[in-house]
Amino acid sequence: MGNGRAVEIIAVADICEARRQVAHAQFPQARIYGDHRSLLAAEAGNLDFVDIATPPAHHAEIAHAAFDHGLHVLCEKPMATTVDEAGSMLRHAQEARRVYFPCHNYKHAPVVKAVRAVLDEGVIGPVHLVTMQTFRNTHAKGVAEWRPDWRREHAFAGGGIGMDHGSHTFYLAFEWMKSYPKAITAFSSTTPGFDTEDEMGCTLSFPTGMVNAHLSWTAGVRKVLYTLHGARGAIRVEDEDIEVAILEAGPGVVAPGSPGKWRFEKRVAPSDWMDASHVGWFSSLFDEFRAAIAKNEFVGKDAREAFLCVQLIERAYRSAREGSRLLDLDQQLGERLHRPARAQADAKPIEEIA
Ligand SMILES: NC(=O)c1ccc[n+]([C@@H]2O[C@H](COP(=O)([O-])OP(=O)(O)OC[C@H]3O[C@@H](n4cnc5c(N)ncnc54)[C@H](O)[C@@H]3O)[C@@H](O)[C@H]2O)c1
Repeated sequence: MGNGRAVEIIAVADICEARRQVAHAQFPQARIYGDHRSLLAAEAGNLDFVDIATPPAHHAEIAHAAFDHGLHVLCEKPMATTVDEAGSMLRHAQEARRVYFPCHNYKHAPVVKAVRAVLDEGVIGPVHLVTMQTFRNTHAKGVAEWRPDWRREHAFAGGGIGMDHGSHTFYLAFEWMKSYPKAITAFSSTTPGFDTEDEMGCTLSFPTGMVNAHLSWTAGVRKVLYTLHGARGAIRVEDEDIEVAILEAGPGVVAPGSPGKWRFEKRVAPSDWMDASHVGWFSSLFDEFRAAIAKNEFVGKDAREAFLCVQLIERAYRSAREGSRLLDLDQQLGERLHRPARAQADAKPIEEIA
């Protein structure tokens, strides 16, 4: 990768024998190992980075091992299952002078890029209200050969739909609100017999407005529904369909007592939402990962936002346990995150972050 070649998969580690066979069939040139330790011991000298795609409970251990071997890390969401783990990963990245980069791939979905373009046009004005609904009729299944229902096991998943989808919800909210949240209140519910929640609702207050999110594994349909509101209009996203409402005449102008008049524009950004791996969204994400390596941006904005997502998920769980109590967030952290990235030489470790 360092010499500008496309990414080459040199080695794969998987703890499941049947999955190692699948890896061998898909990547015949790659050397296959039974765990990350044996892979790193044998291959670290041949590698630039490790891509961590195990369930979340193992992300921290594997990231630390990769940094110990001097490798960059691309890591699936959520970055870790606790704030302590997430903070230690970022600290280690700084100390090892290696990049930690999260797979915040919803930012790279065609429909989200289309929303970004509408916001950049400025037609609806700054966003002050967002609603975000992620409806799933079941938890996402893992591969059949291992533990397809690991998302319902706290020991592997660290939580339910909040842990699984909270990151996507929160990093999109940061972008759309152009600030970081000050406080969160949440509720959750768990179907009896499981130890991870399948329903999570939360409201976040931002310096710039309010975000309300509902994440469900018990919905009647698989769908995302987002609405973004500004003073001059609104955007509604339903999977790949976008409707932009643009205020043409304000309240009382069209006729006495009228609510106003909007022009509606429809756009479509095919995003293949039904493919849960979202494989088509990764290309521009990889470009950003490579750019972070080229710039020695060890803990960049996406990495710090990944940390903040874990902090929000943890606070949401605590709020839900404590009767939906409103919990403050470290606003200084938000302000620090919004500063432009400082030169790495000046980058102090993660008292800044944790
Ligand atoms: N960004 C996205 O859109 C997106 C989509 C799906 C999954 N994910 C994330 O990817 C990760 C994996 O989810 P999945 O649905 O692909 O799971 P999966 O069950 O389909 O695959 C997990 C694989 O990891 C292997 N494995 C488990 N523990 C391991 C360990 N300690 N070391 C090595 N291999 C191990 C399993 O054998 C299996 O092959 C999770 O963090 C999940 O949140 C992200």
